[in-house]
Amino acid sequence: MHTATEERIVRPARNVLGSLRLPGDKSISHRYGMLAAFAQGASRFSNFSTGADCASTLKCMEALGATVRHLDEGIVEVTGVGGRVTPSEGPLDCGNSGSTMRMISGLLAPQQGSFTLIGDDSLSRRPMERIRKPLAEMGARLTLTDGHAPIIIEGTPLRPIDYTTPVPSAQVKTCVLLAGLQTPGLTTVRESVRTRDHSELALRAFGAELERTLDSISIRGPQTLHGIEAAVPGDLSSAAFFLCAAALFPGSGLILDWLGLNPTRAALLDVLTALGANIAVLNLEEKNAELVGTVQVTAPRDGLTTTAITGALAAQLIDELPVLAAIGPYTSGGIRIRDAKELRVKESDRIALVVKNLRAMGAEVMEFEDGLDVPGGQRLHGATIDAGGDHRIAMAFSVAALRAEGETLIQGAESAAISFPEFFTLLDQVAER
Ligand code: S3P
Repeated sequence: MHTATEERIVRPARNVLGSLRLPGDKSISHRYGMLAAFAQGASRFSNFSTGADCASTLKCMEALGATVRHLDEGIVEVTGVGGRVTPSEGPLDCGNSGSTMRMISGLLAPQQGSFTLIGDDSLSRRPMERIRKPLAEMGARLTLTDGHAPIIIEGTPLRPIDYTTPVPSAQVKTCVLLAGLQTPGLTTVRESVRTRDHSELALRAFGAELERTLDSISIRGPQTLHGIEAAVPGDLSSAAFFLCAAALFPGSGLILDWLGLNPTRAALLDVLTALGANIAVLNLEEKNAELVGTVQVTAPRDGLTTTAITGALAAQLIDELPVLAAIGPYTSGGIRIRDAKELRVKESDRIALVVKNLRAMGAEVMEFEDGLDVPGGQRLHGATIDAGGDHRIAMAFSVAALRAEGETLIQGAESAAISFPEFFTLLDQVAER
């Protein structure tokens, strides 16, 4: 059981106004950190994610022989192991981070030595068969504990595969590509929905060659990676909380600059536009193949309208669904979410927790196995929110609290630090009371 350690009161706001620059993207930071630690030579990153999840990745990579230094002005310097890790004495602790555990498994499976991967209670409940299966097809010796962590890997040379992911997952895709990077021959991953492509872009930035078609990505191993210098764009999934908050208040205005706008991540902007919000994207540029730009949002004068998120869109928006559901009651026609069963195996069962917490705030909501219906035109009241140890639930309901009547108490608010330690400070900066 997770025990809540920090409570936060979130008071209603009158408006959301201001401009912010957000800490670096979690997905990109994981990949830059892991690849830099595996590469030859040194890498330097500015605006690296400040979240605990990316710190878990760096810690694991340090335990495997890489050197990590935190320099002035938030610069992270990583010196890599040049393609061969040193097995650590103790287990590698992935903390709360599914990305760390699933991606590092692919990196370690073809290495020499044995490795044990562990995680916290939440991570130890999350499904790991999805990485065991393709790695086993490659010849990896990897043992799960009843489908979960701890994971024990006995490193061994692998053979390439052509693998179609049964559930769209960038973590699984990356796991296979990192094994393929070190495996002679052509490894291909095919997916029915194009998941975030940060790994492909990062691997290329570190000097690897990959071939891409509309629905597949292939890597011919073995290849050597070389250190880079890069600035990590702001995290669009963290920005989601602020964009949704601003979309709730007619008269609002929020500007987020140096924001990551990779098209495989940016579906939220389309959904907010479909809901009636005014979104402008300015100053687009490309950095290490990642799109970066400034986003300006203002709320529609007559309030948000209605939308349905189903099919491929649900997969592409998976991390943003909790906050979209949490603002659903404040739209005129509600928000309908389906094909999002994956939400049940994230850091928490996000469908169950969103439903529970919306009801605690007085909302009507219908729960389905793969989603939920949140009717619009509802007024919510402040309540006690159970974040369930899940960062995105803590932040989503802090946003819902801004338009509620009365104060909301977020129990387990410390979990925000998994991806976004600055969240509450920045929220206070832009929320007018
Ligand atoms: C991530 C992929 C997604 C996402 C997670 C981060 C990544 O998970 O939900 O927050 O960085 O690759 P899945 O790969 O399980 O879909």
